[in-house]
Amino acid sequence: MIRIDEKSFQSIVEYMKQSYGLDLSKKKVLIECRLTKVLQNLNIPSFEAYVKMLNQDHSGQLIEQMVDILTTHYTYFLRENEHFQLLKNNLLPEFVEKKKNAVYKIWCAGCSTGEEAYCLAMVMEDYKKQTGLSLDYQILATDISDNVLDIARNGEYSIKQLSTIEPYWQLQYCYVKNNTTFFIDDDIRKHITFDKHNLMEPLKINRQFDLILCRNVMIYFHKDMRYQIVKSLENHLYKDGYLMIGHAEMLSVKETQLTTVFPSVYKKEIK
Ligand SMILES: C[S@@+](CC[C@H](N)C(=O)[O-])C[C@H]1O[C@@H](n2cnc3c(N)ncnc32)[C@H](O)[C@@H]1O
Repeated sequence: MIRIDEKSFQSIVEYMKQSYGLDLSKKKVLIECRLTKVLQNLNIPSFEAYVKMLNQDHSGQLIEQMVDILTTHYTYFLRENEHFQLLKNNLLPEFVEKKKNAVYKIWCAGCSTGEEAYCLAMVMEDYKKQTGLSLDYQILATDISDNVLDIARNGEYSIKQLSTIEPYWQLQYCYVKNNTTFFIDDDIRKHITFDKHNLMEPLKINRQFDLILCRNVMIYFHKDMRYQIVKSLENHLYKDGYLMIGHAEMLSVKETQLTTVFPSVYKKEIK
């Protein structure tokens, strides 16, 4: 493993904080482990030389690669399933009662390889079938990493992941392609737009949402940046809209104007 010098470490930490909100100040070994291979592939002997190269990287490719490698993309189908159950049993009946015939809008912020967004669409489809309602919905799913977005758009996953999907969904929405992969049904996919977006920047489209999921993303953020992002997510919620964050995350009263309605679920109630 190539060891990082203090100056290079600080400049990578500062860049990741200012540009992406991520807090890597205690992740020296992680940076060394994950980037050593990159340095070796580039034939660079030191982090000092690597940082110099990053500064001269006008194509942005080297920076993009570093961000992708230093972020955690871990996700799986039906992760923190309570949220999907809550959507089906509580939020959707409420949305339908309050806004009949609307196109419901959902933003999956920090979607990684897409499993979360596909699960949302599957819940919506289930609800439609169960109630007989012809409700329409659009899901915007965003991430900073082109690599994960490519996988998400492709909608093709390892057959091993199939076992984490409930049997009814496997039958309705998944097609086994061969011994190694399965793919997600087109009727599900057509409701989702995968787009590149850095949560530290304003969303390109001026849109409000009935529900925003930003789960297991802010856990890696610097606390000052978290505050900024929560504010922006709040502004993108309709009145009576909901925000879901990861189970291990929590927003303090200082951080949000939203009302806690369930653990890690918040509502925009205008007082
Ligand atoms: C651990 S995954 C969480 C995936 C999914 N939400 C879940 O709960 O399973 C975190 C994702 O957030 C993305 N991310 C990190 N910083 C981001 C930023 N500044 N803007 C947008 N996405 C970001 C990462 O690329 C990664 O794919």
